[in-house]
Amino acid sequence: MRRRDFLRILTFSGAAASARLGAQGKSAVGFSVAHDPDRPDYHLLPPHNWMNDPNGPIFWKGQYHLFYQLNPNAAVWGDMHWGHATSTDMVHWQHEPIALAPTPGSEDSAGCFSGSAVVFDGHPVILYTGVRRVPSDQATILDTANNLRECQMLATGTDDSLNQWTKFKRPIIAAPPNHIASTGFRDPCVWFEDGAWWMIVGSGMRDIGGCALLYRAKKDSNLTEWEYLHPLASGKKNGKAWPGTAHDVVDSGEMWECPDFFELGNQHCLLYSTERKVLWQSGTYAGLHFTPQQSGLLDHGAYYAPKSFMAPDGRRILWGWIPETRPEAEFARAGWAGAMSLPRVLHVSETGKLQMEPAAEVNSLRQREEAFTLDQHQTHKHLLQALRMELLVTGFTSGQQLELNLRQHGETIWSVAIDGETGVARCGETSFGVRLDETPSLRLFLDGSVIESFFGKSEACTARVYGLKPGKTECELKLHGPGSVHCSQFALQPISRNKLTGNFPPR
Ligand code: FRU
Repeated sequence: MRRRDFLRILTFSGAAASARLGAQGKSAVGFSVAHDPDRPDYHLLPPHNWMNDPNGPIFWKGQYHLFYQLNPNAAVWGDMHWGHATSTDMVHWQHEPIALAPTPGSEDSAGCFSGSAVVFDGHPVILYTGVRRVPSDQATILDTANNLRECQMLATGTDDSLNQWTKFKRPIIAAPPNHIASTGFRDPCVWFEDGAWWMIVGSGMRDIGGCALLYRAKKDSNLTEWEYLHPLASGKKNGKAWPGTAHDVVDSGEMWECPDFFELGNQHCLLYSTERKVLWQSGTYAGLHFTPQQSGLLDHGAYYAPKSFMAPDGRRILWGWIPETRPEAEFARAGWAGAMSLPRVLHVSETGKLQMEPAAEVNSLRQREEAFTLDQHQTHKHLLQALRMELLVTGFTSGQQLELNLRQHGETIWSVAIDGETGVARCGETSFGVRLDETPSLRLFLDGSVIESFFGKSEACTARVYGLKPGKTECELKLHGPGSVHCSQFALQPISRNKLTGNFPPR
């Protein structure tokens, strides 16, 4: 899937076909979507149609609120709104009315892009990017045949259920700083520190590399006026170039999307999305400058544009968008696209490595457990009656090789493996190094076509595997090498009766 699709999408060429699908009558689409084995059963996603980035996660008045980029009219990207869901445990979700929609004739008339939610002066506030169509010399998005201008906008929550938002009448930051040949200007991340409010905005410098621009709110401006300071962090382009106007500044590393910045342990961490990957950096933040000391890839698979927040108990929780990896025509036909990852709790290790593990609340999905010991050269097979499973393998040591195969009709459809001798893990077609002392466990969550795998705490890989069939898919585990490992396989509960296809309630 090409998802620098501001290009095609805003011409609505692809969207037109699937917009018709959305208009076809929700019941027919709803029925097939609710019975689609590829569609997850315990990951959050909208009733149907398209979702991408998590937006503005926040805990407010006893509930977790999660917003996300939504196209309510088609199962392809376009016409961005903020979808909204609530939960008391970050696992079981309820759809809420759509929170933000583009306002015709205004600065967000072509879309409400990603952003943050914070509590300012006792009131929930959303800070997001508005886009509108403009003549080419005013455009800030450089990777599109359409001409779009981004600005930062604000909306204030006017009810405790966070269903009503009042938009501030003008942009809070109208344009990127003049002296920067910027490659984009979106996805504000906002926080309070040292008695002031701060914001970074995803951006980049043409021919140089992506960056996060740092702003400070002007005193007594109620977050409506901001002063530009300098880039908080920046990177280098990768040299990829396209002929003519098709140059994609995200693919070339010249534009960072969805920067997220927070204090964790005794470090500061920066996450950003570029080149279709999510990168993390940990380091020190002093004198308004961030100095990264360690960095890495947050997830080796289908995972993008994550956004974190602090839960009331102080845990730093991360949400991420799990995109489709199949062709657009297929997901447009399926009538739904994208899912939210499970909540991941973030930590920084003593050596500064970003670590993550599924939040403990996810354990509430566990139903039946089958526990067993897998010995050397042993194979264990299990037929999956439902495509909802958690597998936890512990006690893995160097010298061992572990392999999990999903098989259907005698054929391996997908597999994941760890080689304790070489320190290499494989997740589908993707290979990466794992530190064995840090990786004594493999934890895997299967949900329809989504598979989230955690290799100890340091490496994760999210995969999409289409066409698995409940009652026909066999999960096969094999161990080579000395000793044994302990395995627990859990059947997991769905979080709704209809794969969350019940409609959004009206506002
Ligand atoms: C990342 C992103 C953001 C933008 C949003 C638009 O996936 O491109 O930069 O705000 O999606 O939907």
